Amino acid sequence: MKFAFFDSKSYDKPGFEAFGEKFGIKFKYFDTRLNSDTVNLANGYDGICVFVNDDVNKPVIDKLCEYGIRLIALRCAGYNNVDVKYAKEKGLHLVNVPAYSPYAVAEHTMALLLTSVRRIHKAYIRTRDFNFSLNNFDGFDLHGKTVGIIGTGRIGQAFISICRGFGMNILCYDKYPSDIEGVTYTSLQELFTQSDIISLHCPLNDETQHLINEKTIAQMKKGVVILNTSRGALIDTEALIEGIKARQVGAACLDVYEEESNVFFKDFSSHIVDDDKLARLISMPNVIVTSHQAFLTKEALSNIAETTCQNISDFFAGKQGQNELCFNGDVINCNMCK
Ligand code: NAI
Repeated sequence: MKFAFFDSKSYDKPGFEAFGEKFGIKFKYFDTRLNSDTVNLANGYDGICVFVNDDVNKPVIDKLCEYGIRLIALRCAGYNNVDVKYAKEKGLHLVNVPAYSPYAVAEHTMALLLTSVRRIHKAYIRTRDFNFSLNNFDGFDLHGKTVGIIGTGRIGQAFISICRGFGMNILCYDKYPSDIEGVTYTSLQELFTQSDIISLHCPLNDETQHLINEKTIAQMKKGVVILNTSRGALIDTEALIEGIKARQVGAACLDVYEEESNVFFKDFSSHIVDDDKLARLISMPNVIVTSHQAFLTKEALSNIAETTCQNISDFFAGKQGQNELCFNGDVINCNMCK
């Protein structure tokens, strides 16, 4: 099996080489992202392996079909960058890695929250300059605060456990609530009005796009901390910036960003960044941006490589793997429709 591996990074290769050998899959690594201009690189392969910012749109899917590609292996959980409905209509198969380490993302979310409320990002810079003043570093206890968690799937639940350890009150909203011990579900509006901290762990789709917008920000408690380690477009960035400028939003911690595909995973340290919204966010002392790194632990990388290779191997062995994606109005893993 020969696979074209798009948007490859140095940290991908060790895991994919090891598991590729075990499962008999040969990967050709391309640094470039998949899009209409680069899709020709997929010609001659049995399948493609893509990540969060590869653009698997209709024209790309048409070309993949023309090249005889049968399988798109997503080495990530989210699939908002793939036109799954169209791909399925065209007879392409898709697999993803629904869970590789919910702990990696949940722990990163808490790391961002602690960094923000205890001003660690500022303290680190100050002490490196031998400035030991504590001015403007007053934070607040997480204990006793209310955290509103939107999306209580794998990552949301891992984050709930962490927040419990901090003695926080937990409010949850999910379109499909689960039976989770000790969890109180509420309406979105109630969650917005009651939460000191709001953390997003739901997928990006038509319903959730700009879930955090001018109207919903206005419903929130003054000084609310917003955490987004899910997908950038859950937040209307302009509304967030206005909310921060108006002091309605007290802090924002963002591992994802609406327009991240133009900048994230690349080094712009010697360039002028064209994205004024991102530059404005980064200029704010109460905003922390990480570049979609919440997943990046060695455990997660190994699990991603192993599951992706297992998915590919199952597919070519004619097995309907549990991680195949299907579309029945919503995108879901096939094992959920059985
Ligand atoms: P999951 O599928 O286990 O959970 C998602 C939850 O969201 C489910 O409980 C589902 O019912 C709920 N949901 C669906 N539609 C909703 C709606 N309209 N409103 C509220 N809730 C809704 O997914 P998991 O593994 O917990 O991942 C969550 C998200 O985290 C992914 O969609 C992905 O975008 C993001 N992610 C980010 C990573 C990073 O590195 N920053 C890495 C992995 C995932």
